[in-house]
Amino acid sequence: ESVLMACLGLLEEEWARLEDDGPPEISVVLEHLLVKRPGAAAPVEQPSGRGVVTRKDRPRRSDNRSDVQVKADLLAVHQAPKFKDILRARQKLPASAAEARFLDLLAKNQCVIVVGETGCGKTTQLPQFILDSLILAGQGSTASIIVTQPRRLSAIGVATRVSSERLDDGSVGYVIRGESKQTERTKLLFCTTGVVLRRLAGGDSLKNVTHVIVDEVHERTVDGDMLLLQLKEIMSKNKKLKVILMSATINHEIFIKYFNNAPLLTIPGFAHPVEDIYLESVLPKLRYRPTNLKGLKKMTEEEKQQLRSEYSAGGLDDESIRAIQTISRSDRIDYELLAAVVRHIVSIADKPAGILIFLPGVQEIRQCLELLRTIPNSKVFPLHANLSSDEQRSVFAPTSQWKIIAATNVAETSITIDDVVYVVDCGKVKETQYDPENGLTRLVEQWVTRAAAKQRRGRAGRTRPGICYKLFTKKQEAQMSPYPIPEIKRVPLESVSLTVKVMKHDVKAFLSRALDPPNMAAMDHALTTLEELGAVSDTGEVTALGQHLASLPLDLRLGKMLILGTMFQCLSPVLTVAACVSSKPLFLNPMDKREEASRARERFADGNSDLLTDVNAYDECLRRRSDGASQGAIRAFCEENFISATTVRDITSLRADLFSALSSINLVPPGSKATAPFLNANSTNSNLIKACILGGLWPRVARVSLPRSAVKFDKVQAGAVQRENIAKDYKFFDVKGSNGRVFLHPASVLFGATAWKSPFVTYFQKQMTSKVFLRDATEVPMYALLLFGGPVSVNHIAGGLTVGTKDAFVKLRAWPRIGVLVNQLRRLLDLELT
Ligand code: CDP
Ligand code: MG
Repeated sequence: ESVLMACLGLLEEEWARLEDDGPPEISVVLEHLLVKRPGAAAPVEQPSGRGVVTRKDRPRRSDNRSDVQVKADLLAVHQAPKFKDILRARQKLPASAAEARFLDLLAKNQCVIVVGETGCGKTTQLPQFILDSLILAGQGSTASIIVTQPRRLSAIGVATRVSSERLDDGSVGYVIRGESKQTERTKLLFCTTGVVLRRLAGGDSLKNVTHVIVDEVHERTVDGDMLLLQLKEIMSKNKKLKVILMSATINHEIFIKYFNNAPLLTIPGFAHPVEDIYLESVLPKLRYRPTNLKGLKKMTEEEKQQLRSEYSAGGLDDESIRAIQTISRSDRIDYELLAAVVRHIVSIADKPAGILIFLPGVQEIRQCLELLRTIPNSKVFPLHANLSSDEQRSVFAPTSQWKIIAATNVAETSITIDDVVYVVDCGKVKETQYDPENGLTRLVEQWVTRAAAKQRRGRAGRTRPGICYKLFTKKQEAQMSPYPIPEIKRVPLESVSLTVKVMKHDVKAFLSRALDPPNMAAMDHALTTLEELGAVSDTGEVTALGQHLASLPLDLRLGKMLILGTMFQCLSPVLTVAACVSSKPLFLNPMDKREEASRARERFADGNSDLLTDVNAYDECLRRRSDGASQGAIRAFCEENFISATTVRDITSLRADLFSALSSINLVPPGSKATAPFLNANSTNSNLIKACILGGLWPRVARVSLPRSAVKFDKVQAGAVQRENIAKDYKFFDVKGSNGRVFLHPASVLFGATAWKSPFVTYFQKQMTSKVFLRDATEVPMYALLLFGGPVSVNHIAGGLTVGTKDAFVKLRAWPRIGVLVNQLRRLLDLELT
């Protein structure tokens, strides 16, 4: 409360300005709090113009050994018998044969591009070649090589592997969000791309770095593209910095061009030949035919002939032709067909091996494995990013049975399973698309690109010649687009734009120099969003809030929510909210047990809010743990209540990461705990927590248009059909923007809620599937909307208000005095808010 009062004191200075405008926006409040808060980091003196430095990102002290000593230490490692065994294995990798050529190119050029098939040794070997050559040339003490990885797991995994190849001599470290393992001896640092970007945004110009290796550039993530853009600028000023790009053999010409004809090093792979079998060739061999051949008109002999030649399989009978047509025209995955192909493989092979099936998502993997469990002498494995690392690891264990792995595209380039001989590719992938016009994200299933199809088939030839079965025709493959659309053209850009602004660049000019510049509309939308969030002022200056947000490693809205949670002393629940929203769903929702699962969730329902419900369930898990419940008891509790134990773990670790990020920007004192009383004085005030949630998510607010007869609700029982009916009576309208009708997601605890206290809900995401659905919704009190939301006109919201409330609202909007604000905020803290 004292923080709040300090803030209100500051606001009083702005008396005159506020006189006509009603309550100030929460970002104005934050502006005062964040800049002038006592104990904050030294303000805005760095050349970068940023108010804070992440402690973790400060340049490390350099190695205090001499060059000679470093070299002697390395040579000592090389003498160890264990090292010699490792070296022998390393020398078998294709990358080894390219060492001399690589170092020669690097000596003569500032930038080198390396391509090679997955598994040839790019990531683990090339950084070591550079390091060893520097040390042996007597430049060991100053050597500093950064290798970026697109994912946290791979950063740790690869760092561990490389470190062990060097007998853990201390030369290798890693930094990912919230976790850092490095010493003054570290010379080879594996980082996620995001970590390096934040370091650059903090004003570090990589002066002490000798090499930056950007791995997996072909993935074309926003972070990856941004890093290339910034490295390009840095390289032109710092000629000593060497940059190496590493890529699978996908579309590498564009990188060569982008880096002014940088030389290309191709490492030949040791891939065995892989035979392609397309739908038209495999189908005639199967017993399977799709049941639904309706809708296909009778073909003339000429048309059949045409198709036969198109399928280049002369002997196709009529039925096969129709079956191929049916399957290839359907936009569903044909699981029966898939299972038939797997059975076919098992029936013709001479001995068991690995079968890797590529599917678009977790749901499809589940469905497919259900059908495949009946295959004799086999083990089935799911493989996707949602699994814990233990679960992921089980797939690598050798077995004498058939190993059937159903995977998402994680198995395309980043995970390699050596015993795979057969690949079954359904040809589909799920991708998020973002529409900047209406801020809508959608998860769209679509054909993979030809580049991805090529990667997938390549996984069959790791240890011996393999076969790739494709559930699409050769002609369909020819029509796939050659490469994926870079992420920068598909996602919201507000976070990227803020970073660019903090670095004092003009957003549009800077981003148009990217490998694939984003569209103008997306950039315009990002700038508007930054203003709405209060990260940028209406004159385009980065605000104090904006500076803080730029150094927090998460979605800007969630970052703002955390800052509010800190200010208003309800940090613990708000941390959980931010962590939940950034993790996989806490509650499981198995297809066959939907009703049961949603009833389980309702047991934790709290405050007409999906987010507070999650907080409730998470807290309950923790409470049991601290009460001394056994692992088994907690697991049983989770299972019983459809709570994902993996997600509980993820949330715990993410909460810790986020808390340490807050501490690194000095928003919370070093050494304090997230549960500290001074950060949680209001943690049981659910209205205030909701206000903080809203403050972060604004303007993602929808107005609920309540049905006329409220009586109706009391009579309705919980049940799938009735729930659907209730939902139809509500209308949700976006408060700002298109004003179009939106729908509560059926998984929401608000779905079918009867006791509404306020006609407003805030939500984290709007997603388009069959309709526009709101996800992670929270009912918010009107006062919260007034005080923590941005400017909102009565017209925007009037439809949802009764005459009485409408009058009150209008009055509130017009209240000119700061005293009113003080009172409102007090009431907010006093739990009087409805
Ligand atoms: O980067 P690239 O895909 O070219 O290959 P890499 O990651 O350097 O891996 C080279 C080889 O090391 C692979 O073929 C794997 O067999 C092996 N490796 C491993 O066994 N365990 C790891 N954590 C990483 C690599
Ligand atoms: Mg690699």
